[in-house]
Amino acid sequence: MSRFASSRLALLTPYAPGEQPQDKKYVKLNTNEAFFRPCPGVFAQVGEIAERLRLYCDPEAKALTRAVAESLGVREENVLMTNGSDEALAFAFMAFCDGDTGVRFPDVTYGFYPVFAALFGVKARQIPLGGDFRIRPEDYCGGSGTVVIANPNAQTGIALSRTEVEKIIKANPGNVVIVDEAYVDFGAESCLPLIDKYDNLLIVRTMSKSGALAGARIGCCLGCRELIADVKTVKYSFNPYNVGTMAQAAGAAAAADAAYYAEKTGQVRENRAELCKGLEALGMEYLPSLANFVLARAKGVPGEKLYSMLKERGVLVRHFGGRIEDFVRITVGSREEVAFLLACLKEILS
Ligand SMILES: Cc1ncc(COP(=O)(O)O)c(C=O)c1O
Repeated sequence: MSRFASSRLALLTPYAPGEQPQDKKYVKLNTNEAFFRPCPGVFAQVGEIAERLRLYCDPEAKALTRAVAESLGVREENVLMTNGSDEALAFAFMAFCDGDTGVRFPDVTYGFYPVFAALFGVKARQIPLGGDFRIRPEDYCGGSGTVVIANPNAQTGIALSRTEVEKIIKANPGNVVIVDEAYVDFGAESCLPLIDKYDNLLIVRTMSKSGALAGARIGCCLGCRELIADVKTVKYSFNPYNVGTMAQAAGAAAAADAAYYAEKTGQVRENRAELCKGLEALGMEYLPSLANFVLARAKGVPGEKLYSMLKERGVLVRHFGGRIEDFVRITVGSREEVAFLLACLKEILS
């Protein structure tokens, strides 16, 4: 730390992104990226955009906002586009989390929530998942402080039903409930139909996973007009040109091709079922995921060892500490990738 660093920095443990190795080619199942390509329209759009890069991008990302609103069946006033959903979350923390009332989220969830809480000086309360690694809605009913829930939850893949999330929203009329739907397109119920009903519901989405556009950095906030206006105030106080021209074009093309993505996310579900069947056949335990990853453990092989042994064989998965240190998180890959991973696991476990 330099002698100029703000005192806040001493308290920060920055988020550690998953490995993005450049040394050799891995079967890369560690950061929940799509195994499929973006839709054809993305390729056409991005190639033509170089000419426009001389100019600033549209700060309102109008075409992208319109395309996303249309694809989700909401009004444009309900949408704010962001540079990845990490930025959407950061804006939401800045807009809706006060230092002392604080923020509440599960003890096992997306690792950026505690980082944002520390960065923005917001008191964080981590609420333990149940023994079955499920979020217990009743733990978030009542009390004070913004609630942040990933649904499906990050790292476990377990989803709450819309009715369960609605129970939390209803029980927190004085607090904003942020529902991070990064993985919702892989089979869970979205809370989108509730944004007109509750003025305290803010949904965060990303095109990084089901949109196969992780490198483009496109996310959004969805909510009632007043909440979106608040997040917009943060955006225009921080980075007005937050979504670049290429990302805007790529995102609009992706939002317009629902049929392509419905087919691809269907493939993810099929491959997820194949992966789970294979894990079961190997005697491994896994959590019931509705996301594009599965958290799994093998009896007698510590999670970290499993991670290393897979890496030696050219397969990257993710290992976390804490309550899920016995597990590895496996992104659902293509059929071939799933087969290769299962073959490696079979070799390791035999
Ligand atoms: C639950 C959850 N939310 C948000 C993000 C951030 O995604 P991005 O910034 O790529 O949109 C991730 C990334 O892994 C995630 O797992």
